[in-house]
Amino acid sequence: MSLKSKNPTNTIAWKKLKTHFEAIKNEHMSDWFKTNSKRAIEMSLQWDDFFLDFSKNRINSETLSLLQDLAEEIDLSDAISKYFNGDKINKTEDRAVLHTALRSPKDAKVLYEGVNIIPEISEVKSKINLFSKAVIDGEIKGFTNKSFTDIVNVGIGGSDLGPSMVVDALSYYGNHLKVHFVSNVDGDHVNEVLKTLNPETSLFVIVSKTFTTQETISNATTIKRWFLQKAAPCDVAKQFVAVSTNIKKAKSFGIDTQNIFPMWDWVGGRFSLWSSVGLTISLAVGFEHYEAMLKGAGKMDVHFKETSFEKNIPVLLALIGIWYNNFFKAESEAIVPYTQYLNQFATYLQQASMESNGKATDRNGNKVNYQTGNIIWGEPGTNSQHAFFQLIHQGTKLIPADFIGFSKSLYGNKDHQDKLMSNFFAQTEALLTGNTKEIVGEVSDLSIIPYKIFEGNRPTNTLFIEKLTPESLGKLIAMYEHKIFVQGVIWNIFSYDQFGVELGKNLADKILKEFHEDLDIKHDSSTENLIQRYKSFR
Ligand code: F6P
Repeated sequence: MSLKSKNPTNTIAWKKLKTHFEAIKNEHMSDWFKTNSKRAIEMSLQWDDFFLDFSKNRINSETLSLLQDLAEEIDLSDAISKYFNGDKINKTEDRAVLHTALRSPKDAKVLYEGVNIIPEISEVKSKINLFSKAVIDGEIKGFTNKSFTDIVNVGIGGSDLGPSMVVDALSYYGNHLKVHFVSNVDGDHVNEVLKTLNPETSLFVIVSKTFTTQETISNATTIKRWFLQKAAPCDVAKQFVAVSTNIKKAKSFGIDTQNIFPMWDWVGGRFSLWSSVGLTISLAVGFEHYEAMLKGAGKMDVHFKETSFEKNIPVLLALIGIWYNNFFKAESEAIVPYTQYLNQFATYLQQASMESNGKATDRNGNKVNYQTGNIIWGEPGTNSQHAFFQLIHQGTKLIPADFIGFSKSLYGNKDHQDKLMSNFFAQTEALLTGNTKEIVGEVSDLSIIPYKIFEGNRPTNTLFIEKLTPESLGKLIAMYEHKIFVQGVIWNIFSYDQFGVELGKNLADKILKEFHEDLDIKHDSSTENLIQRYKSFR
């Protein structure tokens, strides 16, 4: 069964939220903290090794209860069970959305079209386990009988961003293998990577759900050509493996059927790191760590599925996000992890969130008359403090931000960790309080005061996690996946297709043909001029 459809703006809760917004929109959070000494306790929750403080938001208990009413009126619970039960909630592509099945325990039962898919998932996981172990231990060798030193993940979008973000995030847990990522069709990208590699000791993992994506197939072909300068065609099978649903195309590329790691159409590209797309992760950090990450995500799934809305982390974050997006009209959301390991986290979430909820047609096929997916961006602290924080503090835009911090550092450098965390706490406090006359104190030049004083009242969530481990990372990623799901349900859109991306791809194919042949394709005059200009230079 597909998801129910209801315009959220027609609910009673939405109307009440609108009135409530008018009543509290100018209130300052600092005043709420002064009048309610329990605010921080009331608006925070502990779950496993996660502590979420959402008290520095422009919400009060009434806001929260109305937002929860909205979720009830939309029948979020029904949507959650359809999501986990494998209903075809990706209606526009006639598919289920079952990445959660990939992190279910071995003895779970998840039916897809009447068949339990868990045994098949376990089989693929054992294959990943055996293969990665054999590569790490040097048992599988290249065409000159040397062990592998380098792994190259060739993919784009979900077939790149997930593995790349996680390999970076878990580099502390990494082994001797050097891992590289080639994604962009920009030939300079692949050439920069190739110049560091030895063809005898490099393993290429070609990751493409469809095995037709222009970028990936072009990069894989260029790499194969480079490889064949030193090796024979029969050696391709020894050093190229694939992750794909398209077995036929992967085989015709020269990959041994044994070395094709399957995927399923019920795993969306942007949620695929839990499937065989995670092969590169397993190679980089070992299967045990990869499995621990899956376990963490599985724990978050249970929390999301079984916890009442008022204590449910993904639901709360999603509702608070809707509050800013649809009532305060905030257009973007910043993700600021206080660990360099999560350097690629915001980029990863950009695809997960913006490819999912960047939609303007509702589940009835009508144009929406309200805002949907917002812009996700961010960088780790403290670097970002020296880059874009000024605008968050004093700019004209309201930018809600998620601060993600860890109590322990991985190498245990206390001095640095204390400095890092003091910044972590200082920033959310500064965003809350702003700079008051009292803080600024005496100044000799009074004309400077309007520049130095600012109001604060800038919202943040603080997610405080014990330590960055494979398991906590799994929980964190799954938390955002579910937040994205909840928002899509409430906005009444289909979160799991990506037709917008297709148009550009198709046009690029046509334009590419025009570079080689004289075709009579009509473009607007700007595009036509630009194409002609490029043609004159190439
Ligand atoms: O960006 C569009 C998209 O289809 C993503 O959803 C997907 O992750 C990416 O392209 C790569 O697709 P594939 O894995 O089929 O190469």
